[in-house]
Amino acid sequence: MYKIALLPGDGIGQEIVPQGVRVFKHAAGKFGFDVEFEEALVGGAAIDALGVPLPDETLALCQNSDAILLGAVGGPKWDTLPVHLRPEGAALLKMRKALGLYANIRPVRMLPSLLKASTLKEEVLQGVDMVVFRELTGGLYFGEKGRREVNGEMQAFDSLVYSVSEIQRIARQGFEAARKRRGKLCSVDKANVLESSRLWRETVNELAEEYPDVELTHMYVDNCAMQLVRWPLQFDVIITENMFGDILTDLASMLSGSIGMLASASLGGKVGLFEPAHGSAPDIAGQNKANPLATILSVALLLRYGLGQEHAATAIEGAVSKVLDLGYRTGDIYEPGTKLVGTVEMTDMVLGNL
Ligand code: IPM
Ligand code: MG
Repeated sequence: MYKIALLPGDGIGQEIVPQGVRVFKHAAGKFGFDVEFEEALVGGAAIDALGVPLPDETLALCQNSDAILLGAVGGPKWDTLPVHLRPEGAALLKMRKALGLYANIRPVRMLPSLLKASTLKEEVLQGVDMVVFRELTGGLYFGEKGRREVNGEMQAFDSLVYSVSEIQRIARQGFEAARKRRGKLCSVDKANVLESSRLWRETVNELAEEYPDVELTHMYVDNCAMQLVRWPLQFDVIITENMFGDILTDLASMLSGSIGMLASASLGGKVGLFEPAHGSAPDIAGQNKANPLATILSVALLLRYGLGQEHAATAIEGAVSKVLDLGYRTGDIYEPGTKLVGTVEMTDMVLGNL
């Protein structure tokens, strides 16, 4: 019996998490395991109900579950709150840190039937299959930050800090993953400018001695942004620090057709957190328009990395491909000649093909 914490959060999170649950339940029945879900408040929804973005009960539930499925947090309603109440920082980042989730895994695959959905050229996208390991609990997001007055004017600062052990543990994940894939690891940094990147590069190079079978390359982050759209096929596994990873994975999502396709797993602690990489999309919330596939694919990652249910994970991924092959599309991946469906109907199709 698995216990899963459900944190729908805000905006489309409220619509897509229930769809993920439908797929989860179906997979449980089919592959013979029991699952129990418990829902908790997070983000703006928690602020509205309880005055805090990450209630203690929510964190406790997460710590006592086998895995966490999260929708999205944030929205215009809470954007002007003081920093200690903002859903992004005070809920999501706090949760990542509290649960020790230092490794954020974002697989980017171009499914053949979505080749035309991306704004990029088909010949560039054909065969894209990479995974980004983004460091998730260090760097600019968590370094010392603040404001101070200097020469009568206000100044703000954020510090980019990494220690050797933080770099080693995320790099190790990348090496291990590369070993199981095509054996190529690209470490992305800005070592021509940043001291933290120079330590990052030295540390990765040292670790590489343990992985002679993995072909290691280094790339500056600005070049990587360019290479991702120029020739994405060169990438197998990428490792990078927190903020570079945030930016590069949004960019890389277009290699899979839409950010509505990008799933993610955050690992490293006792309990893993699984969430679509997109945000709460307040502009389309509550209209049955959101693409549920990133969430459904996050359920697959949860089954694979959180519960070790590889067969169920593969089956869900197969069903998603099948539905796309059959021509069903939500608005974000729609193109003329395909069938436009809503959030619920898209999930119905996945269930029907599972
Ligand atoms: C992501 C998101 C978050 C991040 C935001 C919502 C804080 O963009 O998961 O990529 O920057 O990590
Ligand atoms: Mg992001």
